[in-house]
Amino acid sequence: MKVIIVLPTYNERENIGPMLHALEQVRAELKHELQVLVVDDNSPDGTQGIVKAAMETSPWIHLMTGQKQGLGAAYIRGMSEAMAMHADVIFEMDCDFSHDPEDIPRLLHEIERGADFVIGSRYVSGGRIPDEWKLWRKANSFFGNIVARMVAGIYPVRDCTAGFRAIRTSMLSQVDFDSIKTQGYGFQVSLLHACYVLGARVREVPVIFTDRAYGESKLGLKDIIEFIQNAFAIRLRGMERFIKFGAVGLSGVVVNLFFFWLFQTWGAEPYLASPLAIEVSIIWNFLLNNLWTFSESKGDSRFIVRGLKFNVVSLMSLLVSYGTFLSLNAMFPDGNQYLYQASGIIPASVFNYFCNLYWTFGK
Ligand code: GDD
Repeated sequence: MKVIIVLPTYNERENIGPMLHALEQVRAELKHELQVLVVDDNSPDGTQGIVKAAMETSPWIHLMTGQKQGLGAAYIRGMSEAMAMHADVIFEMDCDFSHDPEDIPRLLHEIERGADFVIGSRYVSGGRIPDEWKLWRKANSFFGNIVARMVAGIYPVRDCTAGFRAIRTSMLSQVDFDSIKTQGYGFQVSLLHACYVLGARVREVPVIFTDRAYGESKLGLKDIIEFIQNAFAIRLRGMERFIKFGAVGLSGVVVNLFFFWLFQTWGAEPYLASPLAIEVSIIWNFLLNNLWTFSESKGDSRFIVRGLKFNVVSLMSLLVSYGTFLSLNAMFPDGNQYLYQASGIIPASVFNYFCNLYWTFGK
């Protein structure tokens, strides 16, 4: 495997030399090819000069320069370049030794075991944030993760804001970077969310985050506000998709009833017209969802496979709806049958939406 570490730097004069040296040692012991792409935003402190000097003797070090637009913007440029360099796995990592280069093989090991997206996590058993972090930084990290998990909707992941991650290029190449609306620290959440929605197999490996010894964090209040806005924007986009899905479902009801009538006018008995009309409406819903609701995340590249999966989910949703109807009847036999019939629609729609989101149109 070809592994490229994208290393963003801004004013890292004290850290960049020792970091490249540490990576050289990891490289020597790694069974995979390892290269480093430093993405420096014209740091005024001379970071680039140190990188250029190292490049003279180390052809595995590369440098990309640009104007400072934020951490996320630097990562998007760096990752695009790393993909063009035919990386199989791309790492995100800080240059200030917050992330221990010696943890790289552990993250890679999870990729070898089949993961698409591996997080060096501070919030799983064995992981840690620095004891010396001030209360505001601890609170910022803690609440940042709560916001990411609850608002952006990445519930199962414990460390959504981590900046130490290994991602398969096959996963990254499916991400529409134009859909990532933040250029700052919210990028971590946006990218994770994009991969998560695409069905990435996400794993968390415990790491101990160490506070930087030199230089300072670039994370400011403006970044925190942007981070929260970004999490809400992700959630709203998710709702937009759910609303589209609902609209398609409603149009499917009209199609269903129309074809139920049409097949009967063509001479079909109602018991045959009914399943035929249901199938037509399922196909109709699939085509619209494929074209519109999930246009960004197409899942399996074979159209027919997506169509079959959609069909399976739709039929299972019927069972969920029917199961709800039967359960309510069993629990409250004297209740209103129409209410029970309508009650089935809610769990069936939620089931239908999430199965299609993660299975049919996810990876
Ligand atoms: N090129 C470039 N441009 N690099 C940047 C920029 C930028 O605008 N801003 C920061 N960097 C580089 C830094 O030089 C460092 O190598 C790395 O990105 C992380 O920046 P820090 O400013 O040190 O981040 P932090 O310690 O506050 O935040 C870390 O932890 C967060 C979670 O607690 C990072 O790993 C974040 O990604 C992470 O969300």
